[in-house]
Amino acid sequence: MRKLIAGNWKMNGLGADIAREVEALAASIADAEHVDLLLCPTAVGIVPMRHAAEKAGIGDKLAVGGQDCHAAENGAHTGDISAAMLADVGCRYAIVGHSERRTDHGETSEGVAAKAKAALGAGLVAIVCIGETEAERKSGETFNVLADQIAKSLPAGATAENTVIAYEPVWAIGTGLTPTSDDIAAAHKFIREEVARKIADADKVRILYGGSMKPGNAGEILALDGVDGGLIGGASLEADDFLAIARAAGS
Ligand code: PGA
Repeated sequence: MRKLIAGNWKMNGLGADIAREVEALAASIADAEHVDLLLCPTAVGIVPMRHAAEKAGIGDKLAVGGQDCHAAENGAHTGDISAAMLADVGCRYAIVGHSERRTDHGETSEGVAAKAKAALGAGLVAIVCIGETEAERKSGETFNVLADQIAKSLPAGATAENTVIAYEPVWAIGTGLTPTSDDIAAAHKFIREEVARKIADADKVRILYGGSMKPGNAGEILALDGVDGGLIGGASLEADDFLAIARAAGS
């Protein structure tokens, strides 16, 4: 399966950062031709990133995505943006249900499914994030939590083509900690089995790992059975690191 190397810029990156990153990516884009490359800047960074990518001649090689979308098509939702608006400015993907949104904005799995449905309706690929907290892991609840999140966060109509799962243990995000390779492989195997309850061709669904993926550990993680790419936060902010991770994804 062709791997997806996706960067989540979170609330980082001004116009100058976008210009610098896209130029650096363009200079070495050959290093990433064996993977699908995606960056998800802030909502206000999407248009500048698309323009920078077009200008640098990598508009078709660097996909741009949103970090969230509203479940509704339009209406009285101050501060929100719809999936159709993301698609309208050239996004191909939308992340939904990131743990920071689940925590900071009280998003539930049911709400995440509604957002994912909106993303699919707008023709976007939804990257649905799931993952256990440290407390859940310590109490042996990891697989129960993942099963529940998968059951509730995937909307009807989700397919291997329009949906990507990102497994991000909450305790691994931005901490420098990662699960062992055995734990990651076991989680991905379990996730695929659970996804099969909702999606017919689950063997074709891309399941990304996310949480402190860096150039130094990406090769080992991305080589694991069932790991079809990465969702990368901190290390996606520097083109060198992001490209090093893409290179580590093998050919
Ligand atoms: P991190 O973030 O790579 O900085 O740990 C990953 C994410 O939250 O998607």
